[in-house]
Amino acid sequence: MLENFTYCNPTKLYFGDDSLECLNEELPKYGQNVVLIYGGGSIKKNGIYDAVVEILKKNHKDVVEISGVMPNPTLAKLYEGVEIARNHNADLLLAVGGGSVCDYSKAVAVSIHCEEDPWEKYFIRFEEPDCEIVPVGCVLTMVGTGSEMNAGSVITNQDTKQKIGHVFASENVMPRFSILNPNYTMTLPKYQMVAGIYDIFNHICEQYFSGEDDNTSDYISEGLMRSLIHSSRIANQNPKDYEARSNIMWTATWALNTLVACGKSTDWMVHMLGQAVGGYTNATHGMTLAAVSLPYYRYIMPYGLAKFKRFAMNVWEVETEGKTDQQIAEEGLSKMECWMKELGLVMNLSELEVSEDMIEGIADVTLFMNGGYKVLDRDEVIEIYKKCL
Ligand code: NZQ
Ligand code: ZN
Repeated sequence: MLENFTYCNPTKLYFGDDSLECLNEELPKYGQNVVLIYGGGSIKKNGIYDAVVEILKKNHKDVVEISGVMPNPTLAKLYEGVEIARNHNADLLLAVGGGSVCDYSKAVAVSIHCEEDPWEKYFIRFEEPDCEIVPVGCVLTMVGTGSEMNAGSVITNQDTKQKIGHVFASENVMPRFSILNPNYTMTLPKYQMVAGIYDIFNHICEQYFSGEDDNTSDYISEGLMRSLIHSSRIANQNPKDYEARSNIMWTATWALNTLVACGKSTDWMVHMLGQAVGGYTNATHGMTLAAVSLPYYRYIMPYGLAKFKRFAMNVWEVETEGKTDQQIAEEGLSKMECWMKELGLVMNLSELEVSEDMIEGIADVTLFMNGGYKVLDRDEVIEIYKKCL
């Protein structure tokens, strides 16, 4: 392992089927004014809303709500929520939902006391907050993003079709606590469950496919990927399998809570391609990643052949005898493709209603990263998008 790093993760996790009870331990640590933040209504249908509200009442909190946080939360919704939280003098933002609600709550948290435009400051100039950050707590209902234990926040500006994520350096943006009850994810539609599973897998890939040094983080990544593949197959057959769903939930958290990025340059180019598609189409995040991954990985494979060979052997158990490195690496990606199809993931951009005439526009809002095996130029990005159609 060659690179230097600092590691600190202050989020306290409560994991298990009775973990919501631990909200009673957390609430007394914060002031009176709580903003309860949630999405389009799933928590009202499955009873999570009632359970959370009861605990808030028991703790005598003064609560206002921000509801209707949409998947891929928008800048307009951010402005609306900041006003509500400001007027309530928020002491705690309680996010109850998936990555969108958690991300959104973090964006509100850094904007309440910010005197500048948060879009310009945090998502265009990628600056750190220099104001007070209101604490965020999270009750997770959808598994995938890792937002429950990281400082990432992704916001979409509908006017400019830009979907931009900022991973804040400040630990204070991370949720102070997160409650992870695998049972809460059981009401997710299968489409969302498998999109989340692929999101997890790709988070690990983004960190794994970089660097050539011998790094403990890569061995952890391989273990996480193997566990995820195993549990995803069980959950795909039986979505109610608690053991599989709890393993998937735990893997999601570790896939993107900064641990497996330690000592790595990290790639993130699949996310940049997928996010640009998301900004244009508002498609489900995990599905945008699934649609662009294989053409991207096949394109960069020759530049990181040794790692793709290792991926094939250690994650997909490809036999090596009598095969060239290239054949082994290709077989690994073919096995990954079979697994993706088995889960029922979106395998191309046409399924997300992207047509060839949209590609130039999508390329215009694609951000370019430089930590992976190949730094792409615009022509290469366009070529990859065309292969994804
Ligand atoms: O809004 P409701 O009605 O709650 O419905 C949601 C939403 O429609 C539904 N859902 C959530 N929990 C449910 C449920 N339905 C039934 N039962 C439940 N228990 O699922 C839908 C999707 O939810 P969402 O929060 O949008 O999904 P996800 O967790 O995948 O979050 C996606 C957002 O996170 C960002 C993505 O870009 C996207 O904006 N990301 C955040 C990251 C981070 N913070 O580090 C990293 C990721 O790479 C990602 O970019
Ligand atoms: Zn993701």
